[in-house]
Amino acid sequence: MMLVTAIVKPFALGDVRAAFERMDIAGMTVSEASGYGRQRGHTEVYRGAEYRIDFVPKTRLEILTRDDDAERVATAVQDAARTDKIGDGKVWILDVEAAYRIRTCEAGEDAL
Ligand SMILES: Nc1ncnc2c1ncn2[C@@H]1O[C@H](COP(=O)(O)OP(=O)(O)OP(=O)(O)O)[C@@H](O)[C@H]1O
Ligand SMILES: [Mg+2]
Repeated sequence: MMLVTAIVKPFALGDVRAAFERMDIAGMTVSEASGYGRQRGHTEVYRGAEYRIDFVPKTRLEILTRDDDAERVATAVQDAARTDKIGDGKVWILDVEAAYRIRTCEAGEDAL
């Protein structure tokens, strides 16, 4: 299994979700996040407000996937969240050693 983690602009969430609904994605975790990238200290715009603070509001997505699905999930996030402006975010993929579905005790890819 793989863990795809993405940090995207908050308003991109709807488009990412819509993209996942067209794919066979079983679940996702969404959290509020904040951070900065390469333009540390430079201005970013969020909901019409300019942020010149250290941390810009972002949305964090976590998707556990089968090994074979991770790349296309990461690509779908990029395609859905890209505005071609600074601050579009990052997506990365990690190997996952184990996962369990708590209700059924299923393990591994069956647990996703
Ligand atoms: N190296 C990193 N490690 C962890 N999180 C990061 C890293 N870089 C960026 N992020 C997270 O992603 C968010 C968006 O990053 P951002 O898109 O600004 O990256 P960037 O490299 O500056 O790209 P761009 O030039 O397009 O702005 C940041 O606010 C932060 O939450
Ligand atoms: Mg940036």
